[in-house]
Amino acid sequence: MENIVLLHSGAGSDTSFSKRLDNYASRASKNFNALDNATNSVVLMENDPDFNAGTGSVPRIDGTIQMDAAVAIQDNFGSVIAIENVKNPVLIARDVMLKSPHIMLSGDGAIKFARIMGHSEYNPMTKKAQKLIEKLKNDYKNNNFPEKFKDFYHDTVGAVARVGNEFAAAVSTGGAFPMLRGRVGDSPIPGAGIFVGKKGAVVATGMGEEIAKSILSYKIYSKIGEKGLADIIKEEIAKFNVSVGIIAIDSENYAYYANKPMAIGIKKF
Ligand code: GLY
Repeated sequence: MENIVLLHSGAGSDTSFSKRLDNYASRASKNFNALDNATNSVVLMENDPDFNAGTGSVPRIDGTIQMDAAVAIQDNFGSVIAIENVKNPVLIARDVMLKSPHIMLSGDGAIKFARIMGHSEYNPMTKKAQKLIEKLKNDYKNNNFPEKFKDFYHDTVGAVARVGNEFAAAVSTGGAFPMLRGRVGDSPIPGAGIFVGKKGAVVATGMGEEIAKSILSYKIYSKIGEKGLADIIKEEIAKFNVSVGIIAIDSENYAYYANKPMAIGIKKF
């Protein structure tokens, strides 16, 4: 059985990014630890302004950037919710899991914890995010804001890794666009956007509200072993009429599927 790292850059992401993601998967899978492989993959995508996570995150309607991220291994979990002014939310989620007595930290508490852990202040705002804020102001001015609000843009970056019998997963997102300050999607919620257990690892992307309502990652995880992994994923995604994607691994296989185009990176080692 080969070790593997599998990444995605969001349901709806340009599939021409897959080559870049293959490269990130290779760069991240240098050391033989599933958690490091998954976390490092997400760090590389958070640092890439083309993706909606870390630098490149979409703004809230008030022009601020709040980010969600999570990591999971079997029997452990850490996440940050609506964190601001940090470069790599996924590393703080990892610190929550490994260095705090908690599993989730939000808002100013998450920021304070990040500083205590040595994560310095960083502004993830990009020109792309500034343009979105301008567009929102114009849409609002032209009174078509409610119409635009229906057309949610959601994106997440995520990774699952299997090294020997160890599984791990990591996710990170700037959230949806447009969205209210304080809005939380599926990514930092255990069982919703991410789940890891002894049978495998699952990560979701797409419309966080709907994914969270159906506890999608845990649902898929719980069916591992009943039939082929790809069939489980396709059957669950077929139940959605909004954008949804999944990457997953079990002890023998890996699979991914989305109802929109989705860039994927893979490294076997
Ligand atoms: N799937 C990411 C989000 O909805 O926030």
